[in-house]
Amino acid sequence: MTQSKPRVPPATPEAPLDLIIFGGVGDLSVRKLLPALYMAHVHGNLPPQTRIHALGRQDWGREAFLSFLQDKVPDFIGAKAYRADAWQGFLDRLGYVCVDATQADDFRRLGEALQSEADRVYYLATAPSLFTTICDNLGAAGLINPQSRVVLEKPLGHDLASAEAINTAVAQHFEESQIFRIDHYLGKETVQNLMVLRFGNSIFEPLWRSPHIKSVQITVAESVGVGSRAGFYDGTGAMRDMIQNHLLQLLCIVAMEPPVSLDPDAVRDEKLKVLKSLRPLTPADVARDTVRGQYTAGAVGGEKVSGYLQEENVPVGSTTETFVALRARIANWRWANVPIFLRTGKRMAERRSEIVVEFADLPFSLFNDSPRQVVNRLMIRLQPDEHIQLQMMAKEPGSGMRLRPVSLNLDLESAFTERRAEAYERLLIDVIRGRLTHFMRRDELEAAWTWVEPIIEGWSQLGDAPKPYAAGTWGPAASSALMARESSAWVEET
Ligand code: BG6
Repeated sequence: MTQSKPRVPPATPEAPLDLIIFGGVGDLSVRKLLPALYMAHVHGNLPPQTRIHALGRQDWGREAFLSFLQDKVPDFIGAKAYRADAWQGFLDRLGYVCVDATQADDFRRLGEALQSEADRVYYLATAPSLFTTICDNLGAAGLINPQSRVVLEKPLGHDLASAEAINTAVAQHFEESQIFRIDHYLGKETVQNLMVLRFGNSIFEPLWRSPHIKSVQITVAESVGVGSRAGFYDGTGAMRDMIQNHLLQLLCIVAMEPPVSLDPDAVRDEKLKVLKSLRPLTPADVARDTVRGQYTAGAVGGEKVSGYLQEENVPVGSTTETFVALRARIANWRWANVPIFLRTGKRMAERRSEIVVEFADLPFSLFNDSPRQVVNRLMIRLQPDEHIQLQMMAKEPGSGMRLRPVSLNLDLESAFTERRAEAYERLLIDVIRGRLTHFMRRDELEAAWTWVEPIIEGWSQLGDAPKPYAAGTWGPAASSALMARESSAWVEET
């Protein structure tokens, strides 16, 4: 396992900081990073001497840059959180440097813009094809020191070989303890809460295993389509965009053993073991246990929407999948024989991310009219609302002993009134403070690719076109059939 040498001293909240965003005027920066940094600024979570340098290729001065931001960013901050005075204070921290990441000379200009004594965080919000060049150019310009950190956005590579190549290139300049591979799902409050649900309560752990668990299903359904991102998405697809990272990370947290502590490597060691225990899918498994889909025209939330092939910039006849459902197996003692179902898709019936742990059937039913199958389920809703439900059987009022499922509901949004920070805000603060627990280590990332790659290869060998599903539905019928074979059903079908 790649243990991260603790070379980066934990940042003191007072140390001056330069935060440099490559791709600083790109979509991610405008929609997520700058709004998150604004919130961190408002809530006093940025060190006082923090400067944020957005880098882009546009030949802009600071004024042009600020007016670009003014037009875009407040909308993403939202009216509730935007305050004109705080925004002005935030803008005072911001600068713009025209840098073409492929031009080594431009990095001299970057060096001149940085504070000499500050810690540096380089956020690479660009295409991964630029990661190596950026790190090489930073190194050549002498802009990396032991206090520097680098944040790598997903997708980190396109397959195992390209992920390894990027990791190796970045490792020439940064120690593992300086590298923050971001998966924003790990920054979500609900995902972090999953660890507390499992390891901060005693009631679930004894049952959290085979044979007490019948199946686990993890769904990340989106109602949005590909939007204007086809240029990126069409070469990526749902497997690389969502399963390889977000869903496998959720699975790790659901399935891992209790770590010995919350130290980054203790947690990441346990997650790695889950990834390494995933049974590789053979071509026959791929044909039987996976479903690829692509949305066609339909309606979402009462509005007509186009199919994937009609979206802007999608190549004619594209066979990119916008939906994946699959059955995974974790080959270890705890999870033997427990089917694990993963599902994600765009333009599905609604936006819903949910983990469902279905407990075993009764060994024997005492109640004449009731089957042995019970619906003891723990349902952990991550998005859009945040709640936990435990479904139990109860007696229907009246004479006789008729059973009916009822739910114990825990609504986390009303249980806590504190502000809930967005994932990027929380993760950026972790980077600034040097906390690695919620970031992926190199070996984790590569283990995830090792498992995913044969599935993608299997699909290309099978040459199957993705199965069509109408926008606004829960995906192709084959996805339900996959569950039915294991006597299960996706929760919304029960
Ligand atoms: C991103 C994917 O990582 O996650 C997008 O690239 C997807 O395609 C997004 O829409 C989903 O994130 P969230 O936080 O909206 O569930």
